[in-house]
Amino acid sequence: MIVLGIETSCDETAAALVRDDRTILAEAVLSQLEEHRPYGGVVPEIAARAHLDHLDGLIARVMAEAGLGFPALDGVAATAGPGLIGGVLVGATMGKAIALVHDKPFVAANHLEGHALTARLTEGLDFPYLLLLVSGGHCQFVAVEGVGRYRRMGTTIDDAIGEAFDKTAKMLGLGYPGGPAVERAARDGDPRRFDLPRPMRGRPGCDFSFSGLKTAVRRQIESLPAGPMIDRDRADLCASFQAAVGDSLVDRCRNALATFAADHPGGGPLVVAGGVAANVYLRERLSSVADQAGAALVAPPLRLCTDNAVMIAWAGIERLRLGLADGLDFAPRPRWPLDTMRAG
Ligand code: KG4
Ligand code: ZN
Repeated sequence: MIVLGIETSCDETAAALVRDDRTILAEAVLSQLEEHRPYGGVVPEIAARAHLDHLDGLIARVMAEAGLGFPALDGVAATAGPGLIGGVLVGATMGKAIALVHDKPFVAANHLEGHALTARLTEGLDFPYLLLLVSGGHCQFVAVEGVGRYRRMGTTIDDAIGEAFDKTAKMLGLGYPGGPAVERAARDGDPRRFDLPRPMRGRPGCDFSFSGLKTAVRRQIESLPAGPMIDRDRADLCASFQAAVGDSLVDRCRNALATFAADHPGGGPLVVAGGVAANVYLRERLSSVADQAGAALVAPPLRLCTDNAVMIAWAGIERLRLGLADGLDFAPRPRWPLDTMRAG
């Protein structure tokens, strides 16, 4: 089975061809970073237009790379939510059009399900596992028990982790996107120089909160001497911020792992997905907390942790294998929580 995947829910335009024996035949991602950089964040209208400009070219490119024509496909999967609705409409409509013209099954893919199932493509994991999904818009623990069988165990009560990185970067003049810039700056910094809170540490459950940390970073910036910020202060603040996020994450993970183990006596690994999983420092912290709990840490390769179409093609394969195609009348959804999915 070969499925074409299309991803357009945020600021990456992506297309990929994946086969059900877990082979990636071709993949292409076009980041719109340069288009959005002047605005310090993703502008939905610009994103939608950029998807429209580039998507057909990207699809043609992966088809050519794999040496395939549309008749060779067994299905088309396009992200139908959650995400910026203009972009989602572009990708979903393109996917439906290809499916309609070539008479192929269509899967209205949930972007979060794409992140959730990636480790089954890259590592061949069996269910169940504990997923930590950490991106710019999402921050949650999910017990993944099967295709479409997701139980959300904890989430953020305010900002997502990626959002906290992005806002911190903005306050420090590090530009957009913030995560990689903060991580880079933190490398030369002293994580003990600034005293920042460890949000939610010691509380029961596994919810997150990051807005207090963001406010604390702002206060520390305000307490610095007036004038342009020097590199040392910036590096120390980034390192202190990252350490605070790490401590909070580790504490939340410990609780989530314990709850997951109690609910699933056979155990299962901790899988980390989403853009923040690219952070090497946080990965190391997660690896040690998983280790302490006797669980393996599974992290897909970086390019498959951030937004991509391989994960959408794979989610399509998982659904089509179970006969879970969608109608061409499926309406794209700006919001679409994982635990409301149709199960296999
Ligand atoms: O999954 P993703 O590509 O897009 C969605 O939000 O769905 O995640 C992007 C987020 C951004 O907030 C970005 O700042 C963050 O992931 N991110 C990072 C790193 N790389 C990307 N955060 C921390 N450290 C990084 N190295
Ligand atoms: Zn994402």
